[in-house]
Amino acid sequence: MSALTARDSASAPPRLGVLISGRGSNLKALIDAIDDGRLDATIAVVLSNKADAPGLDHARLAGIATVVLSHQAFASREEYDRAVVQELKGRRVGLVCLAGFMRLLSPLFVDAFPDRILNIHPSLLPNYPGLHPQQQALDDHATVSGATVHVVNKDLDAGPVVLQREVPVIPGDTADTLAARILAVEHRLYPDAVRLVLERRR
Ligand code: GRF
Repeated sequence: MSALTARDSASAPPRLGVLISGRGSNLKALIDAIDDGRLDATIAVVLSNKADAPGLDHARLAGIATVVLSHQAFASREEYDRAVVQELKGRRVGLVCLAGFMRLLSPLFVDAFPDRILNIHPSLLPNYPGLHPQQQALDDHATVSGATVHVVNKDLDAGPVVLQREVPVIPGDTADTLAARILAVEHRLYPDAVRLVLERRR
């Protein structure tokens, strides 16, 4: 049995750690997928680097443990990441899901969960990595953008793709209207991708 699918007993589902910084709508999509039986997993902890992240409320309402670790309390990225890794390992997390976690991960973090960190990004990677991908798509006069779930490696938004889905760019789109259309797709894509990763490693 791999560490990813490590279970406390034969019937216990794999343990996810979801990292957020803000709204948490993708976290909510994962919670809903688990509640609906579309995803056989349990969220062991939701960790935010911001105490006022609205997404924390989704976790609290669902009775999921929350941890706030402010990066401002740590002297370096490595020290912060070491504390996050310790939280996740202490809760026997097998798969880390970044869901709007606005922090670059240090190699220390990536090495602690090799091939076991996923991220969701609102573009068809490798197109438009980094910040403001919806505006990047508009500036590029793209007619199609989309969403990607990928494995996190040491390069920004560059790890192996797990799943992608296209979203049309419609004439007159603003970054906000395009973001909203992509977000609706993200909410289906992330649970599908997590399920795929868990099934592959079972
Ligand atoms: C999403 O667009 C996600 O793709 C990106 O950050 C946004 C987070 O939104 N990485 P939410 O906090 O899940 O609502």
